[in-house]
Amino acid sequence: MNSRIRNLEEYHKAYQESVENPEKFWANIAEEFSWKKPWSKVLSWNFNAFDVKWFEGGQLNITENCLDRHLEERGNQVAILWEPNDPNQASKKITYQQLHEEVCKAANMLKKLGAEKGDRICIYMPMVPEAAITMLACARIGAVHSIVFAGFSAQSLADRINDSLCKFVITADGAHRGAKDISLKEIVDEALLQTSCVKNVVVFRHTEQKINWNESIDRWWHEEIADCSTVCNAVAMDAEDMLFILYTSGSTGKPKGVVHTCGGYMVWAGYTFKNVFQYEEKDIYWCTADVGWVTGHTYIVYGPLLCGATTVMFEGIPTYPNAGRFWEVIDKHKVNIFYTAPTAIRSLMACGDKFVQPYTLDSLKTLGSVGEPINEEAWQWYHEKIGKGKCAIVDTWWQTETGGIMISPLAHITPTKPTFATLPLPGIQPILVDSEGKEIEGINVEGNLCIKFPWPGMIRTTYGDHERCRLNYFSTYPNLYFTGDGCRRDYNHYYRIIGRVDDVINVSGHRLGTAEVENAINEHPHVIESAVVGYPHPIKGQGIYAYVICDHVLEDPNQSRVEILSIVTKMISAIAKPDKIQFVSGLPKTRSGKIMRRILRKIAEGEMNNLGDTSTLLDPSVVESIKEGALK
Ligand code: WTA
Repeated sequence: MNSRIRNLEEYHKAYQESVENPEKFWANIAEEFSWKKPWSKVLSWNFNAFDVKWFEGGQLNITENCLDRHLEERGNQVAILWEPNDPNQASKKITYQQLHEEVCKAANMLKKLGAEKGDRICIYMPMVPEAAITMLACARIGAVHSIVFAGFSAQSLADRINDSLCKFVITADGAHRGAKDISLKEIVDEALLQTSCVKNVVVFRHTEQKINWNESIDRWWHEEIADCSTVCNAVAMDAEDMLFILYTSGSTGKPKGVVHTCGGYMVWAGYTFKNVFQYEEKDIYWCTADVGWVTGHTYIVYGPLLCGATTVMFEGIPTYPNAGRFWEVIDKHKVNIFYTAPTAIRSLMACGDKFVQPYTLDSLKTLGSVGEPINEEAWQWYHEKIGKGKCAIVDTWWQTETGGIMISPLAHITPTKPTFATLPLPGIQPILVDSEGKEIEGINVEGNLCIKFPWPGMIRTTYGDHERCRLNYFSTYPNLYFTGDGCRRDYNHYYRIIGRVDDVINVSGHRLGTAEVENAINEHPHVIESAVVGYPHPIKGQGIYAYVICDHVLEDPNQSRVEILSIVTKMISAIAKPDKIQFVSGLPKTRSGKIMRRILRKIAEGEMNNLGDTSTLLDPSVVESIKEGALK
């Protein structure tokens, strides 16, 4: 395909074209996909009112591009290579032909149950091929999938189902995760006590554990799908019709449903996958994310399938049965491109090189990193011990809202530099601004990272609340999309992402809003108020530090800590559990009642003597007492 960039010169040329004539640039790329009807207008946009449309008037179905389009040329090639949690269980290979049939069957099953174009369907599944099959089945019939990561609690699941009024939930009896089994169906049952919009729950049999059955709602996947045809016409979708909703945490309030649309997302997912990873025919590609996160959406399912790749889907965890599992799987399937998160790299690095040594890893060509800043030590270890010094490392910066990779080296093309995401992809126009929104030009500078021009894969709205979307991303600085990240631009114009500058924390690559965690902690009957901040954590990137005020002096603080952790797990997920809980008698507040998180962050970081100006505090003595009780 001609949109494939082959060298640095071509990159610079493509970049320049994308800035000088974006409509022509993207029209050329979009033409490489199959459309049911051509678009009439490539782009219309307005960031201030926030209205962006790509390929208006065009019609397509993304599954025809992921499946049908490949059948003639690569029907017998493996599309999904599934590796189970248990290394003694056989892996499974699904060809493009088989995947096409499975998706059509599942699509017909959804139709039979009454699913229609535009309906929202919640997917709460383990990492089994049926999760991808369900996503594609939704897209086939024009239903909107909303995947909820299967580590979220019943409460979080119920909130997400209710927010977008999902008509169906597709789940499994359970999930295997390392040595544990998780009772997914039980969690769905509990969530359903708080919802009234769900017509059916379809249950895929996987762990074969015992589950409760509600005759009026529950349906077995294998029973429903048994008589479904392997032929299902793909519904023609407008380019700007919704493809999926994915909930993500912001700095305020509850998680919001980020909406992506069919045309632009498809073009962006395919283009970025092909170019960043430099995928070649017959490469085996493995992204270790979960389909419950955006990385799983774009770089396990849509991006690779759009490019006719073989994508590995892994059910397990990096440390089961031991910390050599990733490396064992790489050798077993001769993986060429491997994409994971810094938190996994750091935790495996901490387990010692003895887990890497038994494996040759000689199939590897390219290594990717995503989700959080990668520190120099982890980068070097990844490069030397896993890549044996010969693999390209692509440190890919992007967000749920951006749909796909934004700033990243192109593998084996862009010279890399540890901890730098390097250069923007064609079509991406980054800009650094100061707190007033004034552009910070030049080199060797730092600022808030914004994007000044639309790209096809960008967020279109947050489900049910467009104004919130506009306020969140487009009101901080006029005419700019604000990412929430701080960023440095180096002497050679390379970008390095420093981390969030808003009240979002990134724990092991999982995004959490401080307000979300505080709300959960405040549910404890004796908690009056709390404040949560992130602090540097050697494995997780950021840890969670909670300052908590209770209504009386606690006799047994450890007991209260246990109670708080259990409430947070119940309200959100185990991933949101604070690492440290300090009980305090007051919080540092300004005279207008605003908590000064800057001070709390410094204390959590252990920087007691460098708290900056505390003169505007209502009661500066609070700070002294917090410092005294600070947890190491
Ligand atoms: C962070 C994940 C540094 C960043 C795809 C961003 C990164 C947030 C990188 C989005 C990277 C992601 N280097 N930081 N390569 N990639 N981030 O929505 O703070 O789960 O804003 O999307 O992760 O997280 P999200």
